[in-house]
Amino acid sequence: MERSQSNKLYEEAKVYLPGGVNSPVRAFRSVNGSPIFFKKGKGSHTWDEDENEYIDFCGSWGPLILGHAHDGVLNKVSEVMKNGTSFGAPSRYETKLAQLIVDNHRHLEKVRFVNSGTEAVMSAIRLARGFTKRNKVLKFEGCYHGHVDSLMVKAGSGLATLGTSTSAGIPEAYIGETLVLPLNDKAAVEALFEKEGQNIACIVIEPIPANNGLLLQDKEFLLFLRVICTRYGSLLFFDEVISGFRVGFEGASGLYGIKPDIMSFGKIIGGGFPVGAYGASSEIMDCVSPDGPVYQAGTLSGNPVAMAAGIAQLEECLKPNFYQELEEKTARFVRIVQDYVDVKGYPFHMFHVGSIFWLSFSNKNRVQSSDEVNPKSSELFRVFFDELLNQGIYIGPSSYEVGFVSQAHSAEDLNIAAEAIKSALDTTYAG
Ligand SMILES: Cc1ncc(COP(=O)(O)O)c(C=O)c1O
Repeated sequence: MERSQSNKLYEEAKVYLPGGVNSPVRAFRSVNGSPIFFKKGKGSHTWDEDENEYIDFCGSWGPLILGHAHDGVLNKVSEVMKNGTSFGAPSRYETKLAQLIVDNHRHLEKVRFVNSGTEAVMSAIRLARGFTKRNKVLKFEGCYHGHVDSLMVKAGSGLATLGTSTSAGIPEAYIGETLVLPLNDKAAVEALFEKEGQNIACIVIEPIPANNGLLLQDKEFLLFLRVICTRYGSLLFFDEVISGFRVGFEGASGLYGIKPDIMSFGKIIGGGFPVGAYGASSEIMDCVSPDGPVYQAGTLSGNPVAMAAGIAQLEECLKPNFYQELEEKTARFVRIVQDYVDVKGYPFHMFHVGSIFWLSFSNKNRVQSSDEVNPKSSELFRVFFDELLNQGIYIGPSSYEVGFVSQAHSAEDLNIAAEAIKSALDTTYAG
């Protein structure tokens, strides 16, 4: 595959941008070669600067549930954009998007729009602290919540619940109120709450952890978190930046039938534009400024163009059978691959929930915490990823990333991709 244009653009980008990118995983550091520069996308396909064509399963890391350049989204965006791109004052589109979300989500009464998933989580944590008047936050190893200072924390050694920072530039004091535990470990949560429960503002969790592989939790564990939060007066905060509007309109809370107290969103609600949101009951949301004492603001928050994209996308998602069809075609795609793997006996498993899938380089048929992920995955993935790319299939360039099937993926796309995965696995496990 010719990559000379991408390579040239990458060399230029490195002069002006750290690592040549604006978000680290894009830099291809976990795989061979250098990043591919894209110039066009339509439906399930993308084209790079060297005119190579791909079937895309990255989908901009989740937002593009309708595929690239969806006509309905583009039309709505162009219509709204003609009248100006930002006012810094209210417009009807903010209310319209909020109404679409709240009226179709049984656990939300009000939402506040921000500009990214990180901002949504950061603001929701502040709200949880402001509402409960407590400081401590419990998070889980293997869940990613954006680059919020106090959540860039990994578990400490042994039984310590106080973690260590995963980035330079974060003072110890900023993470001093963050407690970290392994996923799916009820006893550890119980023990922590016995000691610290009265001080814990919230438990934050990706109810479908999808940033360290797909670490599907037992519903019982999530229900247990609900119960313990209620018992101790802490808030249950579902970070649904990936799962929201992806595994169903009501995300993971709808899928599992669990009511969190606070939720954060991003990705899909912006239709490919930078949008995040957090939401809760009116009682909790009324603590946010200007109604309440928890300050949070944004120059471009609720930007009409981004809101228009979100409205157009979510209106499609609300159409009958939208999620059912996505789930069915993803399940079929996964089945084709898994049947082959089972016959071949490769130590590999393809997991999925709704239209999110993960390629796990291990024979474990359940992987529920980060320490169960095969540490050799990255090596195997490097070979696998090259093979897939050369066959015109684009997935996130890291073994820890999940893939996304969109409405635009046809049965033919999925058949082609399944065959490519099979042959890439043959090569990966040939050695
Ligand atoms: C669960 C979760 N929360 C928060 C974020 C941060 O969102 P953003 O990258 O829009 O800041 C992400 C990003 O992938 C995410 O997956």
